[in-house]
Amino acid sequence: MDKLLVRGGIPLQGETRASGSKNSSLPILAATLLASKPVQLDNLPHLRDVTTMLELLADLGARISVDEKLGVTVDTDSVSNLRAPYDLVRKMRASFLVLGPLLARYGRVEVSLPGGCAIGTRPVDQHLKALELMGATINIANGYVIATCQKGLEGAHVEMDVVTVGGTQNALMAATLARGTTVIENAALEPEVVELATCLRQMGADIVGEGTNTVTVNGCGQLGGCSYRVKPDRIEVGTYLIAAAATQGRICIHDACPEILVAVLAKLEEFGHQVQVSESTISLDATTTASRATNIRTEAYPGVPTDLQAQFMALNCVSHGYSRITETIFENRFMHVQELVRLGADVRLKDARTALVKGVAELRGAPVMATDLRASSSLLIGALVAEGETAINRIYHIDRGYERIEEKLGRLGADIRRVQG
Ligand code: UD1
Repeated sequence: MDKLLVRGGIPLQGETRASGSKNSSLPILAATLLASKPVQLDNLPHLRDVTTMLELLADLGARISVDEKLGVTVDTDSVSNLRAPYDLVRKMRASFLVLGPLLARYGRVEVSLPGGCAIGTRPVDQHLKALELMGATINIANGYVIATCQKGLEGAHVEMDVVTVGGTQNALMAATLARGTTVIENAALEPEVVELATCLRQMGADIVGEGTNTVTVNGCGQLGGCSYRVKPDRIEVGTYLIAAAATQGRICIHDACPEILVAVLAKLEEFGHQVQVSESTISLDATTTASRATNIRTEAYPGVPTDLQAQFMALNCVSHGYSRITETIFENRFMHVQELVRLGADVRLKDARTALVKGVAELRGAPVMATDLRASSSLLIGALVAEGETAINRIYHIDRGYERIEEKLGRLGADIRRVQG
């Protein structure tokens, strides 16, 4: 199993470019199942999760081709298998996003239940509730969700009990082919919902209100193909900015997306760092001021994303003073705490949702283990700061969500290499 070896203590310096958004790519790939013509996608990041979704689409019978510029075309007209197997859904929860599209287009689908996961139980009740309201019959047997709608889906009034990104996306996709109008209330506002709606609209869907709590979809008989370029990954951008702040470096990220990182950039300024934005570039200079400990509370968009909680904790570990980190989205999302402590951090869990951090003068390299995707990036930030060598094990978690990470960090001056074993 590969691991990353990092020699820390070098400030990140230089320029990099944001990759396409993983969390936008996955629902958009699932949405290709709705289109009766090929969908051409550019700027998909080269990541394990994207490969898993492409494998799933291929397993369902879709034809996938890659052009010389690494654009991907998905033609789902040849889909014949309507079962998403355990082996693929287990690898990646987002596989569950094929449920709505397959049901809406073919009237029947079987998708393995995602099961437990490192950051909490993560139920799918809201996904199922939305589809049931649209007329689906849902049974759960042998670990699979079996959904049918022999006469097709009907538009419905769907009020989500909790704000869920994936639930909103599944409902939105299903509604595009339902008969009549669907209104999704208490919808997630996340940019990845907005991007999905934008792409669906290019396929011919009639959607209004994405990015607000109420999304209205007028269903249509069929969707066509489109060409779509995936927008930058706000979590990747946030991770690199936080890494630059933690190492007291100075970086500039091109093809970034300042407009969807407002809360994150405001936090970085609260830590004491200079942030400058232009239309698609974000620069951060942490060379002149030491970081000030800053409380973090994760929130649904437009708040500070839970996917940056672990990275902000790593920054607080090396900031001056005390901070409190409150995780409001997921239970059990503090798996990184014990590993950061191995690097010399002073973090205490007050309860399942609250961590108290006392900034320390230095971290020291140690062997650590990645437990989930974003937890592993916080260990990487700790490793970039720590004196001496840190070995990060189980980096397949990092490879799920960060494209060419050692190459990108290497270009910013980090001493980082991947080794086997
Ligand atoms: C997506 C992101 C993930 C991010 C999360 C929150 C992708 C592929 N993943 O995950 O990186 O951390 O949004 O921004 O885009 N919930 C229920 N019932 C449901 C669905 C969710 O109770 O049916 C709860 C979850 O347990 C969690 C909260 O709602 O506590 C938010 O989860 P959700 O927004 O659905 O996360 P994902 O879409 O799985």
